[in-house]
Amino acid sequence: MVKDHLKIRVPATSANLGAGFDVFGIALETPYDIIEIEKSDSTKIVMLGRDSQFVPADPQRNIAGIVASIMKVTVKITIYRNIPLSSGLGSSAAPAAGVAFGINEMFELGLSQNELVRIAAQGEKAVSGAAHADNVAPAIYGGFVIVHKDKIISLRPENIGIVAVHPEIIVSTRQARAILPKKLSLEDISFNTGNAASMVVGMMKSDIRLIGESMANHVIEEVRSNLIKGYREVKQSAIQAGAAGVTISGSGPTLIAVCRMDQRENIAEAMIRAFSEKQVKSEAFITTIGKGIYIIK
Ligand code: HSE
Repeated sequence: MVKDHLKIRVPATSANLGAGFDVFGIALETPYDIIEIEKSDSTKIVMLGRDSQFVPADPQRNIAGIVASIMKVTVKITIYRNIPLSSGLGSSAAPAAGVAFGINEMFELGLSQNELVRIAAQGEKAVSGAAHADNVAPAIYGGFVIVHKDKIISLRPENIGIVAVHPEIIVSTRQARAILPKKLSLEDISFNTGNAASMVVGMMKSDIRLIGESMANHVIEEVRSNLIKGYREVKQSAIQAGAAGVTISGSGPTLIAVCRMDQRENIAEAMIRAFSEKQVKSEAFITTIGKGIYIIK
């Protein structure tokens, strides 16, 4: 039955996981945005909730409006934001993926998940300058996703504790990409490839230790860590509190730690304390690898 109105839940996501720059991503169980889509004669955007005053409501400048226009439909989109802006938690991917998914359902377009990822990634390109799909793909598929060229592979690791600590530091994806070197040495490529391979096995086996050990990335993480005050100390504090691994979530500044589910609170506390010792306020999301987008009603 064709619907005139849809309400969907779209998860935050964490891209890269250290080893898989622009290739790996996970959906997080929390935080998430709620998006309502209604049929309308023209496209209108209403932004509500967290940081909404900083996001343009002009459909030509708003990622949700851009995705609607790529899909050649007009809709009213209301976004109840919970995912912090410019945090490295996929705050622009969520509306891009949500609107692509919602329009496909509402207008019964019959597009595959893979096609929706491509459309949402075009929206991401319009705002960040690069069409990386490592946030939109896990938002749509859920779980752990490998996205490379036309291929998307998703896995469903279970009971993986995740602590995502978002410091009050502004890092734009554009800036965090601009500072990266264009070339890596053979040694660094070999290190990153080894970790990427073992990360996939870790995810297949839901092996927290192996996932954590595989999170390190030579070069990209080191370069970007300079944008995050307290990075080294916070990472150290999480490891001391029992985390299996810590890395930058997407382009930062959020840091994510992987751990057992029962260790999450202690690790969150240790990371927040370490940031505050550097005079940086932060907040923690205690979460796990979660579901992709779904319709609430
Ligand atoms: N893979 C992208 C990057 C994700 O690291 O720039 C941006 O959130």
